[in-house]
Amino acid sequence: MKTGIFELISNKKIAKNTYEWVLSGDNSDITAPGQFVNIQLDGFYLRRPISVCDSVSGKLTLIFKAVGAGTEKMASMLPGEKLDILTGLGNGYSLRESGDRPLLIGGGAGVPPMYMLAKELISLGKKVTVILGFGSKDEVFYKEEFEKIGASVIVATADGTEGVRGFVTDAMKDVEYTYFYTCGPEPMLKAIYKTSTTSGQFSFEERMGCGFGACMGCSCKTKYGDKRICKDGPVLVKEEIIW
Ligand SMILES: Cc1cc2nc3c(=O)[nH]c(=O)nc-3n(C[C@H](O)[C@H](O)[C@H](O)COP(=O)(O)OP(=O)(O)OC[C@H]3O[C@@H](n4cnc5c(N)ncnc54)[C@H](O)[C@@H]3O)c2cc1C
Ligand code: FES
Repeated sequence: MKTGIFELISNKKIAKNTYEWVLSGDNSDITAPGQFVNIQLDGFYLRRPISVCDSVSGKLTLIFKAVGAGTEKMASMLPGEKLDILTGLGNGYSLRESGDRPLLIGGGAGVPPMYMLAKELISLGKKVTVILGFGSKDEVFYKEEFEKIGASVIVATADGTEGVRGFVTDAMKDVEYTYFYTCGPEPMLKAIYKTSTTSGQFSFEERMGCGFGACMGCSCKTKYGDKRICKDGPVLVKEEIIW
């Protein structure tokens, strides 16, 4: 874990209530896809956790949905702004188990960590399929970005305005896969837990306090005892989850 000052290079609205930040700073502590950073905002006691979407040589990309006071403040920030950010948090996804045809499933604010994961799996020669789930067409983002890096992309929208009508689990029925990785709202994770035909890894974007293992505010029960989502997670494997 490392604290650093990052400079906001760009802040772009990419879909309904959804913003892409590119920052520059020391991102050397970010070592695995699925890790997150914790952002200090003036006027807020708790830092706001956001998953790493991409991280390459001094450049960090984050994508967030404006859902409350903190993320709305982030949405209004301009290039040049300096931010105090904790990096290198969480365990991240493990790539070893993926097999040849991993399936990546992101729902809404759970889509961003799938991007760096897809890039790394593709660089290992894996045939990656990504299912991106959203409520409606105006919420869809990063379809082209995933296609550009060589992933096969399936979009599912709950109201059917783009791609497959329905939930990510409806889109999963037609895909053959060797392993899966997922991140998204808990009802989506639970549905994937029930319907998936292989093992896989789940990332939990729970509410957090400190974000680095000190307050126990994110503790959850697993088959192997209590775990802190921020430090022992946010990624848990299917076999250890109790649902
Ligand atoms: C490990 C981790 C990674 C995350 N990665 C991303 C990401 O990549 N992109 C992104 O958009 N968001 C992500 N989140 C969620 C993000 O941290 C919250 O949306 C943000 O902290 C809300 O702050 P706020 O001040 O805007 O909202 P608040 O005023 O704190 O809350 C406003 C509303 O948002 C809801 N909310 C707050 N936190 C969460 C949460 N963690 N999950 C679901 N609903 C929440 C509240 O219940 C409330 O209804 C992540 C969370 C965690 C723990
Ligand atoms: S948020 Fe404090 S221990 Fe996890």
